[in-house]
Amino acid sequence: MTRSDGIQLAYLVASVLFILGLRFLAAPRTARRGNLLAAVGMLVAIVATLADARVLSFGWIAAGVGVGAVIGAVSAQRVRMTAMPQMVALFNGVGGGAAALIAASEYHAADALHSGRLDARTAVSVMFSAVVGAISFSGSLVAFGKLQEILPGRPITWPAQKALNAVAVVAVLALAVGASLGLDERRFLPMAVIALLLGVAAVLPIGGADMPVVISLLNSFTGLSAAATGFVLGNDALIIAGTLVGASGTLLTQMMSKAMNRSIANVLFGAFGGGATALSPSADRGGGAGDRPVREASAMDVAVLLAYAQRVVFVPGYGLAVAQAQHGVRELATLLERRKIDVKYAIHPVAGRMPGHMNVLLAEADVPYDQLWEMEQINPEFSQTDVVVIIGANDVVNPAARDDPSSPLYGMPILEVDRAEHVVVLKRSMATGFAGIDNALFYDPRTMMLFGDAKGSVSRLVQEVQAV
Ligand code: TAP
Repeated sequence: MTRSDGIQLAYLVASVLFILGLRFLAAPRTARRGNLLAAVGMLVAIVATLADARVLSFGWIAAGVGVGAVIGAVSAQRVRMTAMPQMVALFNGVGGGAAALIAASEYHAADALHSGRLDARTAVSVMFSAVVGAISFSGSLVAFGKLQEILPGRPITWPAQKALNAVAVVAVLALAVGASLGLDERRFLPMAVIALLLGVAAVLPIGGADMPVVISLLNSFTGLSAAATGFVLGNDALIIAGTLVGASGTLLTQMMSKAMNRSIANVLFGAFGGGATALSPSADRGGGAGDRPVREASAMDVAVLLAYAQRVVFVPGYGLAVAQAQHGVRELATLLERRKIDVKYAIHPVAGRMPGHMNVLLAEADVPYDQLWEMEQINPEFSQTDVVVIIGANDVVNPAARDDPSSPLYGMPILEVDRAEHVVVLKRSMATGFAGIDNALFYDPRTMMLFGDAKGSVSRLVQEVQAV
């Protein structure tokens, strides 16, 4: 077996590990194993690449690996769970930037050889990887800035924005064709700069709360640009890994948009959601209440209701994440289980602000996986449920999405909590959720409102249930 055969075999092993990793990542119970398998696959691919005879100097590579490993390890250790989306944005952006830089260096190398022009396949791969990688890089940095609150979370718009973006797209395409037909860095560089500006211009008008969808879309861009880089370099592992990232990013984007009943175009161009409350605990307290009466309950009222129930379902939402109430909820659930009460958690696919947000928080509090029920499974159960306790969720339980065709939420699948016998809502005020829409559930005579920060309310419930 030649060295080249060995490398190709290693790439095949790496690709199989990536695919198995993705497979295992699909369920919370096996996700850690999936992550580990994919990481081992990446290690195999890196070692195989280093064994390539075309590597000229190991000095720069070692320096890059050293710096990258330290930054990656330290940031992964330090990042708070709520800051995960911006960390993903940053890592994703770096991937896109790397693909664009490789395309630039290949273009430069071809230019230096004075070969005149690129063959069609290389030209398409180089231009695609440079443009899409650059858009993904700058777009991801803006997404990071919004989530980290370095930039304002609200949609930033300006006059003739869409027309200007269209002009930029045409300019990029024209320069890409020009730079392909005749090797000339005076065409390539402006193309890359305009692509970078396009990334910024595309993400600035999107509200902070929509960033997870945008990051997932940019993630698929990075995957596709990496796959194109694989064609440029003739590297099969990169083509496969890039395609997997591109496909999974695209699917995730579609699934999130579908679960919010919004088109990807609406997310990208709709300037939806103020974003001011996106990942900040200082939610707007106004709005919503009007003069309609609501039934306000005390922690003791709710504790009595819970203690004598047979079936209880907890519905976590964004407010649970803000309040970090997951450990308290787990404690409350354990107390109820000791009283032989059946406890479940209902998980809406877009509860919170990032995919799997609730699963991750509840896993952190050691909630058993078999108590987490997905929307389709739990909806038929609500009619036999005595008490539903909603902790900082709002849009995902809004009956208007089912009943009111004039509501912007109409058509979004919801957790049908209003079919339960009693509903208890833990939130701080009558303020609206992400979609900015009033929720009729809160005024339902069977609904009790327990006002206050979710963490404080849950710990009061724990005390009261112990006392019942
Ligand atoms: P929301 O509809 O945003 O409602 C969250 C509620 O939590 C608010 O009404 C707020 O009311 C309450 N809250 C905030 N901080 C709290 C605290 N410290 N203690 C108690 N309550 C608190 O959340 P949801 O029901 O989870 O729905 C998610 C929304 O985000 C959907 O509209 C979805 O489309 C959107 N979205 C989701 C994703 C993903 S992938 N998950 C991505 C983008 C957008 P008070 O201010 O009165 O407390």
